[in-house]
Amino acid sequence: MKKIIIAIDGFSSCGKSTMAKALARNIGYLYFDSGAMYRAVALYCMQNGLINDTKIDIETLRGKMQDIQITFEADPDTKNSLTFLNGVNVEHEIRSLEVSRLVSQVAALDFVREEMVDRQREMGKAKGIVMDGRDIGTTVFPNAEMKIFVTASAEVRAQRRYDELTARGDNANFQEILDNVLQRDHIDQTREVSPLKQAEDALLLDNSNMTREEQMNWLIEKFNSLTE
Ligand code: DC
Repeated sequence: MKKIIIAIDGFSSCGKSTMAKALARNIGYLYFDSGAMYRAVALYCMQNGLINDTKIDIETLRGKMQDIQITFEADPDTKNSLTFLNGVNVEHEIRSLEVSRLVSQVAALDFVREEMVDRQREMGKAKGIVMDGRDIGTTVFPNAEMKIFVTASAEVRAQRRYDELTARGDNANFQEILDNVLQRDHIDQTREVSPLKQAEDALLLDNSNMTREEQMNWLIEKFNSLTE
C-alpha cells in the first residue's frame, strides 16, 4: 500500500493531537506533534532567562536556535509520543499554562518557523507520517496527499482543555482558559508568517458534536479512499 503524508491543521484545543495520534496508531504511521516543537522553544526561553517582562529576547534566541535540540520518543508503557528538549523529557512542562501563554509569540517569529519547518520536512522524508499543527498542509507539506482542517466552537475547545488540566490535577479556571483560546486563535490567524488558514484542498472537519469514534470512522474512510 502506498505511504502518504497526512497533514492535520486547525484551531488550538480542538482535539487535533488526540485525533492524529489515534489515527497514526490505527494505520501504523508515525505521529509528529509540530505544536510541541514550538512549545519546547518557548520552554527553552523560560528556562534560559530569555523572557523579560513577558517579552522574548529575540536576538539572543536567534543565536541559540542551533542549541535547541527537540526529539520525540515513544513512552515505553503507553506508546504515546514524548517530547524531549536537549535530552530531557519535557512532555509535562510544555503543556503548562505559562508555556501556552508564551508560545504564540514564539511561533510568530520568522526564524523560529523557518527552523522548525526545515526540521519537520526532514521528519516527513520517508512519508508514512501524521503531523498536526497550524501550517502543515499550507507550508510544511503543501503536497500532502491527505489534508484535514479541524475546528470546533471556542467554548467546546475551552471545556476540553479545562477537563484535560483538571484531570491531571492542575488548577484551572474556565474563563481564563477561554480567554487564552480566543487570544491564541487571534494571534495564530493574524500573524504575518504562515497564519492559520484552511488549505484550499483540505477537508473541513467540525467536531463540536462528534464522538471520537465517529471522527475516527470518518478519517479512516478518507484514508482508505486515498491509499487503495
Ligand atoms: O497545537 P498547540 O496548541 O500545541 O500549538 C502550540 C502553539 O504553537 C500555538 O499557539 C500555535 C503554534 N503552532 C504553530 O504556529 N504552527 C504549528 N505547526 C503548530 C503550532
